[in-house]
Amino acid sequence: MNDNRKEIIRLLRQSEGKPVSGQEIGSKLGITRAMVWKYVRNLRREGYDIRSSPKVGYILDACPDRIDPDELKAILKTSLIGTNIRYHTELESTNNTAREIALKSPEGTVVIAETQKNGRGRLGSEWQSNPGGVWLSLILKPAISLDNLSKITLVAGIAVTNTLRDAGVDARIKWPNDVLVKGKKICGILTEVSAEVDKVDYVILGIGINANIKLDGLKEEIRRKSTSITNEVGKAVNRTTFIASLLYELEQQYIKFKTQKFTDIVDEWINLSDTIGKEVRIRTPNKLIEGKVVGITEKGAIVVLDRDKKRHEIIAGNCRYCN
Ligand code: BTN
Repeated sequence: MNDNRKEIIRLLRQSEGKPVSGQEIGSKLGITRAMVWKYVRNLRREGYDIRSSPKVGYILDACPDRIDPDELKAILKTSLIGTNIRYHTELESTNNTAREIALKSPEGTVVIAETQKNGRGRLGSEWQSNPGGVWLSLILKPAISLDNLSKITLVAGIAVTNTLRDAGVDARIKWPNDVLVKGKKICGILTEVSAEVDKVDYVILGIGINANIKLDGLKEEIRRKSTSITNEVGKAVNRTTFIASLLYELEQQYIKFKTQKFTDIVDEWINLSDTIGKEVRIRTPNKLIEGKVVGITEKGAIVVLDRDKKRHEIIAGNCRYCN
């Protein structure tokens, strides 16, 4: 956004609902009142709700619900995750864009889009990505082998869940990579990887959070099983500050993953888990397992006891609750 427009918004925000005259804004910016008026007209076209009362001044009633990448960069408290932010108003899929730029981008690069035309979910499903959501992909380059990949998804689930809980949402993790609130989905995570036999080149962590989306804009079969932050806390969340908190939390968890025993992370995951104790049906590429989830191993595999009390350790699969 042009500097003068940004400054006008800053001045109006700062006055907290009290009118600011065109004269005052003009003299602070070194421009005429007529120019201030032209900027205000453009800001209104962008969705800013600016009241003007003759001889008194301008009042900012509401800002459009947009992520502000400049503000995000300014408030971010991380030293790796989000140091390179690519913001787009619309993309096919943030995961696709992240993949295209992954090799030449530094670790911690984040691709964000206001909307996705072709958002992708797990197992080839569509991910509806209407305005108001948090749709982002993070590029990581951990020095791990492929069989440790599912741990990264668990780490991301913890970070998202902690951030949602801090925002007042009663979020819990459904194995392997959904976040639910009282059984309804608020977030999905799509982990994609490029790897050689014994070494991961990069991981793309695609995170989709129903922040301020309108649930009635979702397809019926999805809507029944979904919720949003707005729906849970009764008001829209500021997505810019929310993303700043999410990236901070992701960095904290990623540091733990790299420096601590994985059992510490497993303990945190158990505390936030929605899945432990549930009767489930888990489909893996080569089998279908039905039983009760009784734990998770220090390697991040979920432990299921089937009807014959046979123990199964499953590292990845599609999980459905039976009750
Ligand atoms: C799922 O639960 O099926 C995973 C959904 C992942 C959606 C996110 S939104 C940002 C990123 N870009 C995509 O195309 N998908 C992921």
